[in-house]
Amino acid sequence: MRIERTSHSKIHEIDFDNLSFGEIFTDHMFVCDFIDGQWVDPRVVPYQALQMHPSASVLHYGQAVFEGMKAYKDDDGKVWLFRPEDNHARINKSASRLAIPEFPKELFMNGLSELLNLDSDWIKAGLGNSLYVRPFVFANQPAVSATASNQYQFIIICAPVKSYYSGEVNVLVSEKYSRAASGGVGYAKAAGNYAASFYPAQLANKEGYQQIIWTDASTHEYLEESGTMNVFFRINDKLITAPTTDTILDGITRKSVIQIAQDAGIDVEVRPVKVAEIIDALKDGSLKEVFGSGTAVVVSPISGIGYRGEKFTIAPVEDSYAQKLKNSIIDIQYNRAEDPYGWRKEVVLVTA
Ligand SMILES: Cc1ncc(COP(=O)(O)O)c(C=O)c1O
Repeated sequence: MRIERTSHSKIHEIDFDNLSFGEIFTDHMFVCDFIDGQWVDPRVVPYQALQMHPSASVLHYGQAVFEGMKAYKDDDGKVWLFRPEDNHARINKSASRLAIPEFPKELFMNGLSELLNLDSDWIKAGLGNSLYVRPFVFANQPAVSATASNQYQFIIICAPVKSYYSGEVNVLVSEKYSRAASGGVGYAKAAGNYAASFYPAQLANKEGYQQIIWTDASTHEYLEESGTMNVFFRINDKLITAPTTDTILDGITRKSVIQIAQDAGIDVEVRPVKVAEIIDALKDGSLKEVFGSGTAVVVSPISGIGYRGEKFTIAPVEDSYAQKLKNSIIDIQYNRAEDPYGWRKEVVLVTA
């Protein structure tokens, strides 16, 4: 792999205590091209603007998928990733659905490792500090023709982030707009899924909601996911979450939450969740907690749900499942607890 170090690190210009999520990037990036049917020229180079034709396919047809993962530093300065093989598998699952060639696992892991080695000073130790890692692939064949591109670029960029404190999260149940339909691309991290969510999200923002909670596109009777989070409902002491169908992203935090909850003796039901059942549980007081799970937030309590013009609030509980599960995951991510699942992977730092 070709490595080209930056001649001027920006790290001393960064205020690590005041980072806006995803707006500051590290000194380097990993890049690999798909040309003539092969992934070629893997390299780590200084973070820089891309050169692209205005006819590049992605700009017209949106053929692009991405991932989101984090690197953590423990108090001994060791760097860790959380279930990175799952991100690799998922970007390829997304890629296949968008007719993008799969990216080889060894290249993904090696590229990540070389990049994190060069930029390891950007990962700050301490709970809440992490490096958000964004792998993505896009079509860059210069051709305005509505078919799959024959050229792609795979890139990884990294952004130092503080814990994602989003304040109160209120979600609006969407019955008009849909995120994903059966047979579509909802299960893929396709760029266009997010583009299509911005307008309904803006309308929800105007009504005082931070996020939409999507329902199934055909009946609007079942709750699916919210923003960039899968969603869990605690009714009495049971935890319920929707199964990951072809309309819901198979969240890595989601499956970690399910595993940890089950191992902690919590009764977890993975089954379709009816809107009506949740509204009934809100009304009769059996809905104790609602929370989202995702890489950016880990676990984020949801404090209000809007439905058909009514806003329901969910009071904080003592003995919160959300808090407990969040702590357990964070302890594994930051190497503060045993990892019986083998989820944590060390990035071996090779000192130059
Ligand atoms: C639509 C959507 N749902 C759920 C998630 C949560 O997935 P993960 O836990 O793998 O971050 C994300 C974020 O990646 C997302 O974009």
